[in-house]
Amino acid sequence: MTGLVIANWKMHGSTASVMDFIDQWNRLPALADVRTVVCPPHPYLASIGDRMAGMALGGQNCAEQTEGAFTGEVSAAMLVALGCRYAIVGHSERRSLYGESDAVVAAKAASAAVAGMTAVVCVGESLDERQREEHEAVVCGQLSASLALAEAEDIVVAYEPVWAIGTGHTATPAQADSMHAVIRTQLLQQFGDSGKNIPIIYGGSVKPGNAAELFQCDHIDGALVGGASLDANSFWQIASVAGTGRT
Ligand code: PGA
Repeated sequence: MTGLVIANWKMHGSTASVMDFIDQWNRLPALADVRTVVCPPHPYLASIGDRMAGMALGGQNCAEQTEGAFTGEVSAAMLVALGCRYAIVGHSERRSLYGESDAVVAAKAASAAVAGMTAVVCVGESLDERQREEHEAVVCGQLSASLALAEAEDIVVAYEPVWAIGTGHTATPAQADSMHAVIRTQLLQQFGDSGKNIPIIYGGSVKPGNAAELFQCDHIDGALVGGASLDANSFWQIASVAGTGRT
């Protein structure tokens, strides 16, 4: 499977920093055997468009509804109109800070698919859940409910243990790989044979220094990168090793 590396800028950046990123990215060598995606804050989507070489565009969220009186929301069709091919849904920050349930995440993934985008559906356990050794059950429960309305060809799964996001504590390659194997088994149960083609990417403090060992794991198909994606050079370095060792 071709590596997939997605930049999640969260609520960072300015018009000037976005222009700098585009400029720096376009000076870096083209990458082979990897798909790259940038998910900036919505206001910067239009100015990025297709200006970054080889980089697809994605939203960080989308509404579950198609249109109407939903102040502050952005529909999947609006993202598509700006050139987005991906939408992150169910990021742990959306789940914990904005109360998004699995049912809401499922509806968002469905609405992204109807509009023609790939939904990057995020799952992951908290530190408490891992310490209680409930992480596999928690993640399988999230998958079963969050993907309830999805077709295999419309989704990417991002495993992001909450305790590894923005903390500098990456899951070890063994921890990540073993959870990815559990996720693959669950996807095969939910989607049958087509579950084998769903990319499963890892997120949580991925950096240039740890990306290669993560990508060498059998079950890791790429990365969702937060902090380290804000710098064009460091995102390029991560993406440049995503094709390594993949079959
Ligand atoms: P991080 O964020 O790389 O800064 O840990 C990842 C994410 O939240 O998608």
